[in-house]
Amino acid sequence: MKKLPYQQIASKTLKTMVLSRNGKISPHIPETKWYNYEQLKQMLHRHSAVFIKPDKGGGGAGTVRVTKLGSRKVELHTLNSRKVIDARKLPFYLKSFLNPRRHYIIQQWIDLGKINGRPFDLRVHLQKPLSSWQISGVCAKIAAPGKIVTNHCKGGQPVEAPKALYQVAAQKKQTIFLMRKIYNLSKEVAKTLNVFFPGLRELGIDLGVDKKLGIWIFEVNTRPDFKMFRVLEDLHMYDRIRKTHRFIV
Ligand SMILES: Nc1ncnc2c1ncn2[C@@H]1O[C@H](COP(=O)(O)OP(=O)(O)O)[C@@H](O)[C@H]1O
Ligand SMILES: [Mg+2]
Repeated sequence: MKKLPYQQIASKTLKTMVLSRNGKISPHIPETKWYNYEQLKQMLHRHSAVFIKPDKGGGGAGTVRVTKLGSRKVELHTLNSRKVIDARKLPFYLKSFLNPRRHYIIQQWIDLGKINGRPFDLRVHLQKPLSSWQISGVCAKIAAPGKIVTNHCKGGQPVEAPKALYQVAAQKKQTIFLMRKIYNLSKEVAKTLNVFFPGLRELGIDLGVDKKLGIWIFEVNTRPDFKMFRVLEDLHMYDRIRKTHRFIV
């Protein structure tokens, strides 16, 4: 059989739409809407904080978190700045910050588990060298001090996943249980997307765990970078990913 080309899908919304049709996955997707000011107001009604990010793009660039502070004030936290403003001035600030040529999404903000006050999330790297998906690597990324995104290119520090999860799970048994749940969910994500996008052979899922041990999928990268695995002490995941990557591209 002819091999399909290595497929990439840039739009976060398109991938989220496909995933939210699967009842096993949908409870793990934060509420997500297209950005417009009306929608933002409604989302802020339902959630104490929301995250605005470009539909296409990565590296945590162009993102802003909006947090309600009482009824009159909001906090804006971008990649490099943080300020409290009068809520009535929000449309003005966002207009100056968001690029009118790009489409943005608004996502319910998830209060992630933290290590020494720094939030972390996980990267699950999946590959399909032949006919089935394998998890080739999993690591946690801890946000750089003062940052709200964990992206490696923004100073996020990769560490072993069980070590990070233990900080929220607090028990070894719970940590193992959580890891297993994350593995099963990740495979379900890969299989579900693959039905709609048959050329997928590699995925990098960004997912977070909140303080109540809820698992939340932030995005699925279809051309995932894997340099972060090179920073881990144990290089066996990095070697496996690299070897399989060479085989599948
Ligand atoms: N809804 C959210 N709640 C909390 N943190 C988030 C949320 N969405 C994204 N993040 C943080 O921001 C990082 C970047 O967001 P992501 O959706 O992965 O976009 P990209 O990496 O393409 O910029 C994530 O790895 C995570 O640390
Ligand atoms: Mg990401």
